[in-house]
Amino acid sequence: MAFEYSDMLQTIKNRQWALADIDWDAPGAELITDEQRPKLKAFMSDLVWIENVGARGFAAMARKAPFDELAQIYTYFHAEEQRHANAELALMRRWGMVEPGEMPVPNKNIRLAIDWLDRYSDDLSLPVLGSVIPALETALDGALVKFLLDEVDDPVCEEVFRHINNDESRHLVVGFAVLDMLGANSMRRILIDTVSGVASPSLILGALVYAPLLTRMITNIAAMGLSEDKLIAAAQRYEKLGQRSPNTQRIPYFHVVKWHAGLAIDHTQPFQFLSEAMGVVIDQVPNRMFGRIPSWSKELTYEPVAK
Ligand SMILES: [Fe+2]
Ligand SMILES: [Fe+2]
Repeated sequence: MAFEYSDMLQTIKNRQWALADIDWDAPGAELITDEQRPKLKAFMSDLVWIENVGARGFAAMARKAPFDELAQIYTYFHAEEQRHANAELALMRRWGMVEPGEMPVPNKNIRLAIDWLDRYSDDLSLPVLGSVIPALETALDGALVKFLLDEVDDPVCEEVFRHINNDESRHLVVGFAVLDMLGANSMRRILIDTVSGVASPSLILGALVYAPLLTRMITNIAAMGLSEDKLIAAAQRYEKLGQRSPNTQRIPYFHVVKWHAGLAIDHTQPFQFLSEAMGVVIDQVPNRMFGRIPSWSKELTYEPVAK
């Protein structure tokens, strides 16, 4: 059955929410323990920036969308990811982890991903972005956020992530509907898209940024105490959702992303060694080599503005 993009667009419009809907001063902030605080701060800082990376990805997708309703859906998703980042920043503020006006600092892998997205994401084809983004979303939605809710007792945190999760479930539904649509193209078209993508320097560079980023994320969240089972379950969910559609299975990038996620989670050698080595190299890059943090990230704010 064909996916109804116009119905989805209407649902998205009906389900918009704002930071102002949440009572940021409600009791519960004191439930964060001093033991949790430093690790939670690092985790939330990464999360804020991952949402931003997602936002930038959707902005690029909106420009590639083959029809207007999908372009509008991606534009909403762009705004929603920014809202997630802002809400997470507001939680950090509530928990006393950032000072007024302070922004958490992205780690170097994320800085690289941001630089790369700013330079190249508009060159990437919809099949590439369309395969990678749902993989990150299943990881976020299935592993990171559930983990956070298990660890943190603050009811406001629960309320925030209830909103975020509802948005994310729609991102996933659309993500897989688009993969299904792309996989319904002729094999000739799929092959042309794949070959031209593989040959592009932006994609090769992107893979060099993406592989160590994923490895570092997995290491960081394992250090926080997240069990590997949850990550494995998230990767399996990506595979299962993709396998429901015979069309999606015709997209080579879907298989590449699935394969790579499996390698990263299993710490398969020599891939683990290579991406850790790349991570070490990235850590040596002096800060001045990175571009300036792009202006779109200045839209971040924990102020409960209605948007
Ligand atoms: Fe998000
Ligand atoms: Fe999302």
